[in-house]
Amino acid sequence: MYGNDFAVPDEPLNAAETPDYEAALAEHAAGEMDRSAESRASFDALIAADQRIEPRDDMPQEYRDTLIRQIAQHAHSEIIGMQPEGNWITRAPSLRRKAILMAKVQDEAGHGLYLYSAAETLGMDRSEMLDRLHSGKQKYSSIFNYPTLTWADAGAIGWLVDGAAIMNQVPLCRCSYGPYGRAMIRVCKEESFHQRQGFEILWALMQGTAEQQEMAQDAVNRTWWPALMMFGPPDTGEAATQGGHTEQSMAWGIKRFSNDDLRQKFIDMTVPQAQKLGLTLPDPDLRWNAERGHWDFGPIDWDEFWQVVKGNGPLNAQRIAHRVRAHEEGAWVREAATAHAAKQAATQERAA
Ligand SMILES: [Fe+2]
Ligand SMILES: [Fe+2]
Repeated sequence: MYGNDFAVPDEPLNAAETPDYEAALAEHAAGEMDRSAESRASFDALIAADQRIEPRDDMPQEYRDTLIRQIAQHAHSEIIGMQPEGNWITRAPSLRRKAILMAKVQDEAGHGLYLYSAAETLGMDRSEMLDRLHSGKQKYSSIFNYPTLTWADAGAIGWLVDGAAIMNQVPLCRCSYGPYGRAMIRVCKEESFHQRQGFEILWALMQGTAEQQEMAQDAVNRTWWPALMMFGPPDTGEAATQGGHTEQSMAWGIKRFSNDDLRQKFIDMTVPQAQKLGLTLPDPDLRWNAERGHWDFGPIDWDEFWQVVKGNGPLNAQRIAHRVRAHEEGAWVREAATAHAAKQAATQERAA
């Protein structure tokens, strides 16, 4: 089978394979990311001591609201993110590719579940969050409003979109809100597999015919800039004023790095991988800056970003319509599961 020797095994391919994630994992395993149920302190003292806030703790309403907004948006992104690649499950080029892609898309549904559960610990009902998604009151990542035109898009999404997601999510393993941080520990491990499968799809295409190589290059050309936009608006300058809650989120220990820092880390990690794949990243300004020790890159089209956020991307309407239809058609499953749970609870009660 081709594609087994596509990267040096001990070279990190994504942020979940870096010491950052390993350290968070070790802290988590040692119980350092959890507080005992007895340890009580004020919100400010806990934040100052870099301790986790748990659902039982008092917290400012703005902290709660910020987390609900962020976690709900994250959960929505996971489940809407199933659509672009779900589009290719029946058309993946082999049984092996179908099985891998199906597992990947199913993982994303699981990520949605962890995250909706984490948001519910803040007092927000899941059906309320879904209503807000369906009515456009809550957003999801704008990247999923772009179409997946060829099989190579499955590769570009795994490599770049999951890669960017992990770069965002590894620091969230240390988020000050316990349930969110713990969900991220698991999610990042799975995202790492997603990113490698995307890389491997592109690797296989790049070993193929000229037509296959062209298909891979085209998918990367279309995905690169929207992937960079996934880190959100810049921290400074004109576009920055329209967005973000970065400063407050960093003070609260929700966010650990600024949007621009994460974007730069992602570019620095990805450029050598593109070189290894033999793909060109569609940015004529991309060059190594020895003084900064980073890759310089060209300007991002923030007008396009805001257009897509506002609902004017290529597929916004289609994504939500599909989501609402799936929700309505799944009503009987939710009813059956609720009836089954009630029956089981009643049986247990009788037995007790
Ligand atoms: Fe995910
Ligand atoms: Fe993923």
